[in-house]
Amino acid sequence: MGKKNGLRYIFLMVFGAILFYAGISTVTCGANSAPDHVMLTWTGDPATTETITWRTAGTEAAGRVEYVEMGAEKSFSRNAKVALAKVTILATNLGDQSIHSATLTQLNPGTRYQYRVGDETGWSEPRTFTTAVANSQQFSFIIFGDSQSTNYNVWRTTLQAAYQANPDASFMINMGDLTDVGQDYAQWNAWFTAARGVIDNIPIMPVVGNHETYTPTGQFSKPTFFTAQFKLPSNGPAGLRGQVYSFDYGDVHFSVLDSQDGEEGRFVPDMLAVQQAWLEKDLAASNKRWKVVLIHRPLYNNKLANDNVKIRKMFAAILDKYHVDVVFTAHEHVYARTYPLYGGMAMKSADKGTIYVATGRSGTKTYQDPVAKAGDKIFCNPLDEPNYLVAEVKGDMLMVRAFKKSGAIIDAWSINKASQ
Ligand SMILES: [Fe+2]
Repeated sequence: MGKKNGLRYIFLMVFGAILFYAGISTVTCGANSAPDHVMLTWTGDPATTETITWRTAGTEAAGRVEYVEMGAEKSFSRNAKVALAKVTILATNLGDQSIHSATLTQLNPGTRYQYRVGDETGWSEPRTFTTAVANSQQFSFIIFGDSQSTNYNVWRTTLQAAYQANPDASFMINMGDLTDVGQDYAQWNAWFTAARGVIDNIPIMPVVGNHETYTPTGQFSKPTFFTAQFKLPSNGPAGLRGQVYSFDYGDVHFSVLDSQDGEEGRFVPDMLAVQQAWLEKDLAASNKRWKVVLIHRPLYNNKLANDNVKIRKMFAAILDKYHVDVVFTAHEHVYARTYPLYGGMAMKSADKGTIYVATGRSGTKTYQDPVAKAGDKIFCNPLDEPNYLVAEVKGDMLMVRAFKKSGAIIDAWSINKASQ
C-alpha cells in the first residue's frame, strides 16, 4: 500500500467508524423485497370495499391481501379471506418499483378487519382498517395542507400528532404538494416512511398539486408517481382519471379537482374546461346533503401576486349553482377561511354561499408574503409550526377545527343545516 492509498484507507476507516457510532446505516435507498409503503385508499364504496396498495423491489409476483374480521384474527391463517393483487412496474430515478394493489369487496359495513399483504417470500406486519357504517351520519376526517418538505420528519410529526389526537378519524385528505419533487422517488420513500402507522390504518384520499409534476431536473411531467401509487376512483374525465375523481362517505359528496393547468396543460389540453364539464355533471348527479370540493390552487388568493382568475372563472359559478358547502384549498401554505361567498361576494349565512378554506401546511415550507384577502373571516400564517384540520360531520352539522401541530387551536367553525 502506497502512502496515498494508506491515507485513503485510514480516511475510509475513520469515516466508517463515524457512521457506525452515529448510528447511520449505509443501505441503498431503493425498494426492499419485503412489502412497504402499505396504504389504504378507496376506489369503491367505503362501506363495503377497501383498496390496499404496497411497494416491493422490482418483482413481478403480484402477491395478495389476507384479511379477517377482528375477533377471528387469532386464527388468521386459517380464517383469512384472500384478495389477489395486481402489480405494475413503476420506472423511477431509483430504479423499478413494483406497485401492488388489491381491492377488497363485499366487506361488512362498520366492521374492523385485520390484514396483511405480501406472499410467502415476505409478509407485512398485520394492520387494521374499519369500513364505513352504511349511510354514516357521524364521522370525522383529518385534512393536511402541503406536506412538501426539506425534512420529512416535520411531516411525520405533524401527521402522527394529528392522528394520535384523532384516533377515531375515518380517513385523511392530503391537499396536494405531498412531496417537493413529485417525480423524485427518494422523496416518496421519505414521505411514506413518515406516514407509516397512519395511512395503513385509515385511507388517504389525496389531491394533485403542482409539485407532483416536478422532475429532479426541473422539468414538468404528468404526475405519474402520484397516479401509479394512489389508487383512486376512476370516475374522472378521460385523460385525468386518477387525478380528478369523486367519492361519497356517509352523506358527504367529495369532488376532487386538479388545478395544475400551468404544469399539465401541455399534456392534457383544456384540462380545466374538461373538469368544468365534469364537475357540473358530478355535482348535478349527487343528492348528498353535504357537498365538498378539494382543489390544490385556491380560487381566491392570499398571495396578492397570484390571482387564479382562470381557475375562478372555470369553477366559481358551478360551485355557486350547486351550493357547494365548503371548498378546501392549499398551495399558499396559510390557514384562511372566508365568509360564505356567492359570486365572489360575502354572504350573511352559509346557506347563501360557499366557504373557502386554505388549509395551511403540514411540511416545512412557509411563505412570508401571504396576507388576509377580501372575504376572509380569519387568516393565520403558520410560520411558527405546521397545522392540520379536523372536520366532523354529525347529521345537520359540519364542524371544522384547525390546530397547530402542538394542539393549539387556530380556528373552530360550523355549518348547521337544521337552522337554514
Ligand atoms: Fe402548490
